[in-house]
Amino acid sequence: MLSVKPYRGSRDFYPPEMRFRKWMFSRLRSSVEQFGFEEMDAPILEPIDLYLAKTSEEIVSTQIYTFKDRGDRQMVIRPEMTPSVARMVAGKFRDLKKPVRWYSIPNLWRYERPSKGRLREHWQLNCDIFGAPDPFWADLEILHLAVTLLKNFGADHTMFRVKVNDRRIINYLFENVLQIQADWWAPVARIMDKKEKIPRDEYMTMMIAAGLGDAQIAAVDLYLENPARFFSDHKVSAPVFAEMENLLVAATESGLRDFVEYDPSVVRGFDYYTGFVFEIFDLTPGNNRSLFGGGRYDHLLENFGIQSANAVGFGMGDVTLQDFLESHKLVQNPDKLVHVYLAVFPDPSLLPHALNIATDLRKAGLNVEINLGQKKMGKQFQEADEKNIPLVIILGEEEIKNNSVQMKNMKNGTQNQVLLGNLQESIQSEWEKIYAAKN
Ligand code: HAM
Repeated sequence: MLSVKPYRGSRDFYPPEMRFRKWMFSRLRSSVEQFGFEEMDAPILEPIDLYLAKTSEEIVSTQIYTFKDRGDRQMVIRPEMTPSVARMVAGKFRDLKKPVRWYSIPNLWRYERPSKGRLREHWQLNCDIFGAPDPFWADLEILHLAVTLLKNFGADHTMFRVKVNDRRIINYLFENVLQIQADWWAPVARIMDKKEKIPRDEYMTMMIAAGLGDAQIAAVDLYLENPARFFSDHKVSAPVFAEMENLLVAATESGLRDFVEYDPSVVRGFDYYTGFVFEIFDLTPGNNRSLFGGGRYDHLLENFGIQSANAVGFGMGDVTLQDFLESHKLVQNPDKLVHVYLAVFPDPSLLPHALNIATDLRKAGLNVEINLGQKKMGKQFQEADEKNIPLVIILGEEEIKNNSVQMKNMKNGTQNQVLLGNLQESIQSEWEKIYAAKN
């Protein structure tokens, strides 16, 4: 017998889960569109070269789903969207009105060990801005968007925190303080990125394996544990420290005071980030995990021959977002929205009339579920009730003769006769009563 389970780390979306997903995504879409972003999409398959150029070594070497197509090309099921977005922006770079503000909600595949918040297939809201006249403004706009997304679900500053950093500060640490060669930077940055997520001895083993001595590990500790001192020690020699401070001041002054803070441990795993980076953390005690993140990646378009195109954005996963909404009780599980159930007396000659009524109501924009068999009336009411459809239209021979139907409000039990000519209006006013009683 075949298994009915989906592939490990992926999910089936039965209608209730799909309803939830649609609700969550429609909230995200409307928030992002408030910021003037436009939706786009790309193929789920890309050639492997797209990811070899500049991405995360961990993803390419251990997490991508890859195969040869029938033409012997090495293909990848997309593990992230950023390389595809960059490819598409580069493809029309000259024609696109700048700044480009694009978003997408692709499904992505990574061969991970499934655990809480991490699956093999997830959906990820991506929001990116390319070619802003002043990248600093774009960084700030991205911060506002990230915060607004969660606030629009009802979240407040007690529930999450945006932790920001700048890759150039980390590069400064590597180059001027640790004085390590450039090809060590990315591996060391990845270990620092893991520091908060793994036990100290595992972290130490990784740092030593990456070639760092005791003095260098101590310097990293000082940077991570006392950033204020690190800033004041180095501000004069590197302007990026002042830039970071400006960003924090501008964030504070534009209403993000309670949401944003500096955190030296924020690194972000991808090699393409070049400046401002951030992660949003859930503040639930015991579930202090990263919800989503992103940053500035000004050189990715160079792979496609486009020079000097600044870019900033983030990716927000559906799995971590759902956990966050559930743990903070922010889910408003939407009911299946069927406005009326059309109950028909068990007589085949009534079917064409019933279908005509359903067609007219659907044309008027109503969602109508019609009984699909010759069931007794009581059973039909029961079906409407079980499906939580609050309004039932009843059609029998008598009603056809009178050019009317019966309308039953399942919530308060009232029933009355309605002429077909007044049906839409009557449904409308009955629904208003149902909404009023609900709220
Ligand atoms: P990322 O940090 O790899 O960044 O993923 C962004 C978010 O996607 C994560 O914070 C998490 O919410 C979700 N996510 C990632 N992997 C998984 C997984 N295996 N299971 C469930 N959720 C997951 C990127 O992918 C960047 N390309 C984002 C970006 C866009 N940067 C700039 N623009």
